Amino acid sequence: MNILGIESSCDDTAAAVLSDGKILSNVIASQTVHEQFGGVVPELASRAHNKTIWATVDQALETSGFSMPDVDAIAVAKGPGLMGSLLVGLGFAKGLSLSWEKPLIGVNHIDAHMYANFIEHNEVFPFVALIVSGGHTRLVHVTAPFEHTVLGKTRDDAAGEAFDKIGKMLNLPYPAGPYVDRHAKTGNPEFADFPRAMAKKGLDFSFSGLKTSVLYYLRDQRQSYIDEHLDDLCASVSAAISDVLLVKLRRAVRKTGVKQVMVAGGVSANSMLREKVRAMAKKEGVNLMIPAMEYCTDNAAMIAKAGEMKARLDQFDGMELKPFASL
Ligand code: KG4
Ligand code: ZN
Repeated sequence: MNILGIESSCDDTAAAVLSDGKILSNVIASQTVHEQFGGVVPELASRAHNKTIWATVDQALETSGFSMPDVDAIAVAKGPGLMGSLLVGLGFAKGLSLSWEKPLIGVNHIDAHMYANFIEHNEVFPFVALIVSGGHTRLVHVTAPFEHTVLGKTRDDAAGEAFDKIGKMLNLPYPAGPYVDRHAKTGNPEFADFPRAMAKKGLDFSFSGLKTSVLYYLRDQRQSYIDEHLDDLCASVSAAISDVLLVKLRRAVRKTGVKQVMVAGGVSANSMLREKVRAMAKKEGVNLMIPAMEYCTDNAAMIAKAGEMKARLDQFDGMELKPFASL
């Protein structure tokens, strides 16, 4: 089965081709227009998608060596995400589906982040997934394809949002997550003792307290001190975020008794988190799935993979397929 995947839910225009479970191309056009604003501007995002989507899809097809007749189905992210951005991808996918006479598959972006793990791992159920992205932080117990119960979620900011907002306070470019990660590698995680909110019990998360705590900490310091200790501060912030994520994931593993665990979404690229989760999985005797770096942040390979799984279940969509902004 050959699937063309299309992703446009936020500020990355992406297209990929999956053939019999293998990724043949994975093209991502990241929008740089938002950097000057320190966050994604929805109107600019949808305009940029409009400009690049055709070239992105074209490039994905060309790299894969496939053309229209070889494609069996078109999978597209239907939400959650920015409404204007989603509409561009969905409209484009519908157009292709109509003109090429190929079936359409709407894919949930969060499901796709999880199933990105199945590009390189066997499809095994049940498992517990920690989904950590710029917009979402949740723990789910997945019992069968596209069937899950939510074990816990954030009550305020998402983990990626916490990285980005705190990174902004430290004058790092947007999105700050990868920059915080890079600086943290040479810093001391015990330099500043930032709070681990709600770590003692439950499976819900909260990151807004950490944000405020860092804000107050920085307010009391001179700029030269912050500059001098940037690596230590980044390491301390990364430690606070990854500690909480780890504690909750371990609690969910023990509570459900699963033998498989996965991490997914943009923040799964974080090196401290990856290291901690690997050690935890080993200690708990569970099998860990964590995506290769290119499948952590937004991409269309994950949309194609989830699309392939839906096609196998005969879950196709028609022209009435609508985008949705929130879960
Ligand atoms: O999954 P994703 O690409 O987009 C959403 O669906 O939100 O996640 C983006 C988020 C951003 O907040 C970004 O800063 C964060 O993932 N991120 C990281 C790292 N790479 C990306 N956060 C911490 N460490 C990283 N290495
Ligand atoms: Zn995402």
